[in-house]
Amino acid sequence: MIRYFGLIGILVVLFAAGSWQDGSLSKELESAELAGYGQNEAEEKASIGARTVVIPTPVWVIGSYDKEGKPNVMTSSWVGICSSKPASLMTCLREATYTHGNIMERKAFTVNIASESLAHMAAYVGRVSGRNVDKFQKTGLTPVKSTLVDAPYIKEFPLVVECQLTKTVEVGSHTMFIGEIKDVKADKPILSETGVPDVEKLKPFVFTPGSSKFYGIGQSLGNVSALAKEAEKK
Ligand SMILES: Cc1cc2nc3c(=O)[nH]c(=O)nc-3n(C[C@H](O)[C@H](O)[C@H](O)COP(=O)(O)O)c2cc1C
Repeated sequence: MIRYFGLIGILVVLFAAGSWQDGSLSKELESAELAGYGQNEAEEKASIGARTVVIPTPVWVIGSYDKEGKPNVMTSSWVGICSSKPASLMTCLREATYTHGNIMERKAFTVNIASESLAHMAAYVGRVSGRNVDKFQKTGLTPVKSTLVDAPYIKEFPLVVECQLTKTVEVGSHTMFIGEIKDVKADKPILSETGVPDVEKLKPFVFTPGSSKFYGIGQSLGNVSALAKEAEKK
């Protein structure tokens, strides 16, 4: 906080001195940064460009029906939770995917989360299109008709989320599909004593854009409030 006001003070003084015009402001700011107001990162970090190599990302398998009612699944890693009330999530899909048209048509989708033992299934359904292949038939996975939304979920995946489409947003190469969560269903063996999914039982995995690999999740680093208290002590 003190540093913040210090930096504001420097800006005010420099502005009054007309530094904006002669370019000396940037030099002054630079020396303020070097004095510890904010470090010049250029030497510390390598710029790798404006790319989607933000790691890790979740691995979700999106379930949908096509116009004829054929169930389809595809992998999506451009995903996340986007609202607590109403509980909502989003998945970003290219128009070229079969799933994109399906969700536009049916206004619903499911999110299916695999355990490590199903990683090969999540990889496969992200490599072929339901336009050409019946992925359920090919993999032997079982589609289950949701009673809450017009989309199928995968019986063998231990954690599934049923979503009603509420909004689409065009974001360049991808359309963001926002879905309101109507229910979360979990296989009973993956639940903790408090009734929420237990990550150590579910054994989900993440994706690393850039190297295009799946990784398991390591051990717990601790409870968030306990960790925050540790930082306060320093
Ligand atoms: C790990 C992984 C993540 C992916 N994430 C996305 C994504 O977020 N959005 C997207 O449009 N495609 C993504 N894809 C590619 C689609 O899953 C792929 O194009 C798929 O064949 C589309 O299936 P569909 O045509 O049956 O809908 C991903 C693929 C993999 C393997």
